[in-house]
Amino acid sequence: MMPPHMRFRRRSFLGLLFLFSLSTSALYFIYSAPGIVNEYLFMVQARGMRIRQNMRNIGAQVLEQVVRSAYNINGTDYPYDFNLSETAAPPTPYLPAGFTYLPTDICPERLPTMKGRLEVNMSEIALEEVERGLRQVDPSLGLGGHWKPQDCIPRWKVAILVPFRNRHEHLPILFRHLIPALQRQRLEFGFYVVEQASDEPFNRAMLFNVGFKEAMKDLHWDCVIFHDVDHILENDRNYYGCSEMPRHFAVKLNKYSYMLPYDEFFGGVSGLTSEQFQKINGFPNAFWGWGGEDDDLWNRVQYAGYTVSRPPGDIGRYMSIPHHHRGEVQFLGRYTLLRHSKERQRLDGLNNLRYSPQVSRRSLYTNISVALSRDLAPIADY
Ligand SMILES: *[C@@H]1O[C@H](CO)[C@@H](O)[C@H](O)[C@H]1NC(C)=O
Ligand SMILES: *[C@@H]1O[C@H](CO)[C@@H](O)[C@H](O)[C@H]1NC(C)=O
Ligand SMILES: *[C@@H]1O[C@H](CO)[C@@H](O)[C@H](O)[C@H]1NC(C)=O
Ligand SMILES: *[C@@H]1O[C@H](CO)[C@@H](O)[C@H](O)[C@H]1NC(C)=O
Repeated sequence: MMPPHMRFRRRSFLGLLFLFSLSTSALYFIYSAPGIVNEYLFMVQARGMRIRQNMRNIGAQVLEQVVRSAYNINGTDYPYDFNLSETAAPPTPYLPAGFTYLPTDICPERLPTMKGRLEVNMSEIALEEVERGLRQVDPSLGLGGHWKPQDCIPRWKVAILVPFRNRHEHLPILFRHLIPALQRQRLEFGFYVVEQASDEPFNRAMLFNVGFKEAMKDLHWDCVIFHDVDHILENDRNYYGCSEMPRHFAVKLNKYSYMLPYDEFFGGVSGLTSEQFQKINGFPNAFWGWGGEDDDLWNRVQYAGYTVSRPPGDIGRYMSIPHHHRGEVQFLGRYTLLRHSKERQRLDGLNNLRYSPQVSRRSLYTNISVALSRDLAPIADY
């Protein structure tokens, strides 16, 4: 049987778009070799393949037509003119506006403070300014971005792990949106920025493993959120609590025209309970360069028998901060490793990881700086 990430699904819209852009001879070739179609579609659907590139190939008009028919809309400024107050209506009602919580009660999951759509402001801003603004609103925001509600008992303790390198201007933008949203969700939370200090290719997955181990030394967090620094949530009803883990939060990203690139997509923002993360042996450590590590996490989650949940409708919308890849390289060996996801799961992950971090407590986050290298997570080659 083909592993899940190789299957071609009807909903693979990006793949379809790409077919439009192929020449006739290429089309003939892939139709005569369906196995290659799957592999090819997977590749084009993989992280980093931007719909903007497709637009250059097939022309904005075709794209717009396809998207409009998919969404059955007739507005002008696609895709920013969707009426979110209609589509983001929750399936069950939020508490009435006059509701008061009690300091002796556990905070509800749906709160009147969670209004839905957020105004996103992508302007660069100084970290100190964000910090000052947040502390003005709520002085109880502690060191390391640690916060818990005072008016009710937090239902969940959530660690937000942010893998990091060379994106200093993104951090304040993330914090200025995410921290107020999490406060409105009445969660206890803390931020861990895990920075790769070495010159090796960026290893997002290994940084998450390090972040998890370090965060758990602070507190027994109920769950962990794996959060890219450039993902800004657009809806504060996207609840970061732990009840529906494993969960994929970043379902609709503006850079993918607010569509899921493929059904097994697990990138951007995802989360597991601490127990689940331990059970699947964390992320793989062997993915050097971007791409594939989130697919491997998806596989690990499936092998453990978990089902991934997603926020409904437009609640899972995110905007990505525009940026260049700045020389970060792709991981080309990912397809080989993904074919061996299952065998590798118990060999490579939390259990073969050694590292020595430099940990410092900053105002809005804990800084975990770590020089990664291949010998820190030894594994026999496949
Ligand atoms: C979209 O707009 C066009 C022209 O304004 C109109 O003819 C058409 O009926 C509209 N379609 C829908 C689905 O509203
Ligand atoms: C969006 O939908 C809501 C609820 O149906 C409506 O009250 C509001 O006027 C709509 N906004 C726009 C800009 O169409
Ligand atoms: C966005 O943030 C910048 C920097 O803080 C601020 O100057 C600007 O007024 C904000 N824009 C909006 C629309 O709020
Ligand atoms: C984290 O700490 C290291 C030193 O340990 C420093 O070089 C780096 O700039 C810090 N990064 C962030 C994001 O604060």
